[in-house]
Amino acid sequence: MNKEHPDVDAVLFDKRDIESMVKRMGEQISRDYAGKDLVLIAVLRGAVVFMGDLMRQISVPLAIDFMAVSSYGDKAKSSGVVRIVKDLEMDIKDRDVLIVEDILDSGLTLKYLMKNLASRKPASLEVATFLWKDIDGKQAAVNPRYVGSHCPNAFVVGYGLDFAERYRNLPYVGILKSEVYA
Ligand code: XMP
Ligand code: MG
Repeated sequence: MNKEHPDVDAVLFDKRDIESMVKRMGEQISRDYAGKDLVLIAVLRGAVVFMGDLMRQISVPLAIDFMAVSSYGDKAKSSGVVRIVKDLEMDIKDRDVLIVEDILDSGLTLKYLMKNLASRKPASLEVATFLWKDIDGKQAAVNPRYVGSHCPNAFVVGYGLDFAERYRNLPYVGILKSEVYA
């Protein structure tokens, strides 16, 4: 048993929840991408933990690559104006691209990224997000094809997700205590 971190209010998804979420997504992706030319693209840094688990639950051949983006302006709120800090090593033209994200909130970051990737003419372009904060009937700017779980509108950490670069190594997803970021 993992002892809960003192800065965590409540555990949302424990190790076993995560395992079954990722397994289900991997099975769906394996089915949908049979016979295709799959490239997984993880958005650094939050998605690395999910990427590592997800790729091992996918049974069809695949390649992986990484991108890093940085948002302009307010850190807490997505502006949708992002700069590519690290670009792909790979040419994705005519390949079946699946973007791997840790958490989708407004979707503005991903919308920008998808527009950029679409201009490179992949055969297909879809999104797999581990969590989706789709609260209050709010519409995200992009529609993910694969979703691990919906998630409450709270600040969550662990399983790759950070606050000020901390907590990424927690093996579960938890709600961060508000006094930590207040
Ligand atoms: P948008 O609004 O563009 O933002 O979809 C998505 C990005 O914002 C970050 N984000 C979070 N990071 N806990 C985190 O550690 C959260 O609760 C959270 N909500 C949003 C994340 O980097 C994501 O890619
Ligand atoms: Mg992120």
